[in-house]
Amino acid sequence: MSARKILVTNALPYANGPIHMGHLLGYIQADIWVRAMRAMGHDVIYVCADDAHGTAIMLRAEANGITPEQQIANVQKEHERDFAGFGISFDHYDSTHSETNKLRSEDIYIKNRDVGNIVVRPVTQLFDPEKQMFLSDRFIKGTCPKCDAEDQYGDSCEVCGTTYNATELKNPRSTLSGATPIEKSSDHYFFKLPNFSQYLQQWTRDSGRLPVSIANKLDEWFEAGLTDWDISRDAPYFGFEIPDAPNKYFYVWVDAPIGYMSSFENYIKAQRPELSFDEYWNKDSKHEVYHFIGKDIVYFHALFWPAMLDGAGYRTPTGLFVNGFLTVNGQKMSKSRGTFIKAETYLEHLNPEYLRYYFASKLSDKVEDSDLNLDDFIQKVNSDLVGKVVNIASRCAKFINKDFNNTLSENCAEPGLVQSFIDARVSISKAYEDREFSAAIREIMALADRANQYIDEKKPWALAKVAGNEQQVHEVCSVGINLFRQLAVYLSPVIPKLANEVQTFLKLEQFDFASAQTILVNHQIAQFQPLMQRVDKKAVDAMVDASKDSLAVEAPKVEKKKAKVVEQKVELKAGEADPITIDDFVKIDLRVAQVLQADFVEGSDKLLQLTLDVGETESRNVFSGIRSQYAPEDLIGKLVVMVANLAPRKMRFGISNGMVLCAGNDQGLYIISPESGAKPGDKVS
Ligand code: MSP
Ligand code: ZN
Repeated sequence: MSARKILVTNALPYANGPIHMGHLLGYIQADIWVRAMRAMGHDVIYVCADDAHGTAIMLRAEANGITPEQQIANVQKEHERDFAGFGISFDHYDSTHSETNKLRSEDIYIKNRDVGNIVVRPVTQLFDPEKQMFLSDRFIKGTCPKCDAEDQYGDSCEVCGTTYNATELKNPRSTLSGATPIEKSSDHYFFKLPNFSQYLQQWTRDSGRLPVSIANKLDEWFEAGLTDWDISRDAPYFGFEIPDAPNKYFYVWVDAPIGYMSSFENYIKAQRPELSFDEYWNKDSKHEVYHFIGKDIVYFHALFWPAMLDGAGYRTPTGLFVNGFLTVNGQKMSKSRGTFIKAETYLEHLNPEYLRYYFASKLSDKVEDSDLNLDDFIQKVNSDLVGKVVNIASRCAKFINKDFNNTLSENCAEPGLVQSFIDARVSISKAYEDREFSAAIREIMALADRANQYIDEKKPWALAKVAGNEQQVHEVCSVGINLFRQLAVYLSPVIPKLANEVQTFLKLEQFDFASAQTILVNHQIAQFQPLMQRVDKKAVDAMVDASKDSLAVEAPKVEKKKAKVVEQKVELKAGEADPITIDDFVKIDLRVAQVLQADFVEGSDKLLQLTLDVGETESRNVFSGIRSQYAPEDLIGKLVVMVANLAPRKMRFGISNGMVLCAGNDQGLYIISPESGAKPGDKVS
């Protein structure tokens, strides 16, 4: 078999925030695959970069009082440190803000332009006259044109669910400056995606290109019809200027995937001059290119990216490997629960290989969400890695070290058993290659069980107590060490640091899959050193504590599981909400209230009208968008938590005087309720 030449990339993380557990799912997945393919003898190049452009990064730099260049340099340093901490074995880590990427972006744009894939037309958008910049929807708020709810974003109303154009909002204002935006027209550059409709429909169905579930999803988009893609942004923008278009910049998603190519290019220039860029990227390249991405960015990778490449005469990726999202303890990561865990915080408390193993035990080739359940994490790592795998070595090594001069027996007493471990290479390799990591782990753990069973049956510790059994003790422990070696080799893509230590302990030159097809006899080993400590629950708790927002607020009891805490109107997305101080928080008057009366609202299928006792002389009237989930009669008498000092809001149906807190997820909304004993008017803090 000749070595395949493979280029692997991970999604390029944005240069405006830290790496967290959610990101790591995809990076660890890709790294395990890369290491496994290398262990099988393939020639794999693995590159990544920071995604450095865009308005968000520009504004973040401004808020930090530094230049965008300083901002992205600082963040890149942290990202590289975190990835190294988790053993991600990139050959090269770059930035999309590089000269190479600028040139490649221009090249791809010009080639597309010259064959007629670009069109220019004016677009009218809201413009902040103070900031002197166009505003995307999330930087505009105003009153919903349909239901008059205040404080709604520029794309849709979170009270009545209507979607609209930002220009339709009543009393719009810029969230950046507070100024009233004006409508302004400017020329935008569009990529004519519909030119590629046929091509993409075929491309997404080519075998191995995409998970089938994703290809099916894309069909919905094809049916709806592809539309031109707006690839330009007006100054001020942190990015690359478009050739022959002064003051127009490439939208960040144009040059971001091109970063895959330029990171590769910078890698070969710096470290592998014998390789050629074209050999990997020209139209009829025989080498393979895979992108590991999260499910939220499929649209960009399965439509725009292959179209841009094809339009410019380059090859397209061989396949996209798509991971689902990570939840922690069954819920979206949350700062208040301490489950928004940064890579850096994890590394201060725990061994990265625990997490690599846990993720491996969960991952398959399906685009499914994964849960990091911290109790399960402790249990699984302790029982599998420490209890089963490492245990084999510690049970056998001490005899070899102490009684047999660090040397394994001359004969293998159980060649059949050892050979069956060697033969498992075929199915384990296949599972790795197919990204069926959980299946690989199951098979490896079944082997570990067999190894332990063998040692339990032979009981070398008992044999050793009786004189004359020396040879048997020697042989049993030598078999045990051989079985352990096979397991460590198979686990090496997942827990490379531990595998490395085992390699040193076993004094082996090679530790790849091919080299492990021999049985070790009469072989010298080193002194055994403890390989892995048990996961300490205290360390996990300390990590969660350290991840908690400095706001020491006891989260109100959430009625149903799997709910992310939101209030009715504004979703506080983990990682997106800006930190606030305790002074900000105490401005919110949270109170226990009791529902005295609940009624349907005529003309609204979303709202219920609630009459609430907040311990004041007069009851409060509040409209709440919970009709889909609660019948009025279920609510009467219920204790809820409300924001008591929210400015009264005029709605079509009357004035809403406060807000009831709910948790919400894909399935529905769940009122947050204090434990019994709380009284109307009690302060919630
Ligand atoms: N910059 C873009 C990618 C450009 S690729 C040319 C981006 N960056 S990101 O920082 O938001 O995300 C980086 C990767 O992490 C993406 O693959 C994204 O899907 C993934 N994840 C971010 N949060 C995640 C979870 N909670 N769970 C799993 N993956 C997650 O998108
Ligand atoms: Zn509305």
